[in-house]
Amino acid sequence: MNSAILDATVHVTDLDAATIAKIRGVLAEHTFARVTGLFDPEAIQAARERIRAKFSSGNDRKHDPRDADALLRNFQKLVVGGTQGVNSVPRFVRMFYNPLMDEDIFGMHDTFRNLVRFRNLLYGLQADFTLSGIEQDMWSATRIQHYPRGGGFMAPHSDVGTATVSRDAGLAGYVQVILIMSRKGVDFQTGGAYIDVIGGERLFFESYCNLGDVVIYDGRVNHGVEDIDALEPLDMSSLDGRLVAMATLFKHFKTRSNEEYQSLMK
Ligand SMILES: [Fe+2]
Repeated sequence: MNSAILDATVHVTDLDAATIAKIRGVLAEHTFARVTGLFDPEAIQAARERIRAKFSSGNDRKHDPRDADALLRNFQKLVVGGTQGVNSVPRFVRMFYNPLMDEDIFGMHDTFRNLVRFRNLLYGLQADFTLSGIEQDMWSATRIQHYPRGGGFMAPHSDVGTATVSRDAGLAGYVQVILIMSRKGVDFQTGGAYIDVIGGERLFFESYCNLGDVVIYDGRVNHGVEDIDALEPLDMSSLDGRLVAMATLFKHFKTRSNEEYQSLMK
């Protein structure tokens, strides 16, 4: 086991104030943390297989970022590019936006609710903030990210844009919370997510993670995803590759109450 990972690992049995404080402390010292014990690996494996069984590459869509409302519903977003534009990052990734306000098509909502509660506690917010939709013009972008075998990647960057959302909301700091849903050596063989830890080491943390681990990092961290199984054939109808779940706090740029949004969906 890598010593940087070991030093930054917190095993959790209860999300009490002392545990949250401990995780915050690890984050402050190391810029990242690995949290074990929050999610059952078998449940995560089952979720992955449900997504595999239910998704169709025929639903892949390009998303015009000016259409902010599209992501408030289930939306299978394919990103190939990102070389220009504000806060853009070159990448090849498929994202299953699966917001809590829309239908639970993958049986992921319970998992997402737990991830949102955990993120909220880290931010010092009420545990249920945004669980039922848009609150204070913010919502939880609960989504599954799929970096396909045969070339999925994301160029190195730090999370300037989303960190700005946190700062504007008056939150203390910024955290990205990533639920691990695939294993290096099993679901993909080469590449994977990394963070550049203090001291300059590029840490491919998935080599040391299990299904259901949560990796957290703050806005300072340079991170990316190195090409997933780059020399393997690309098959967009397959869910092979790297899979993670996220629950980022997003700003909703059009002011619209949750009730108004719900009525729009009827
Ligand atoms: Fe990022």
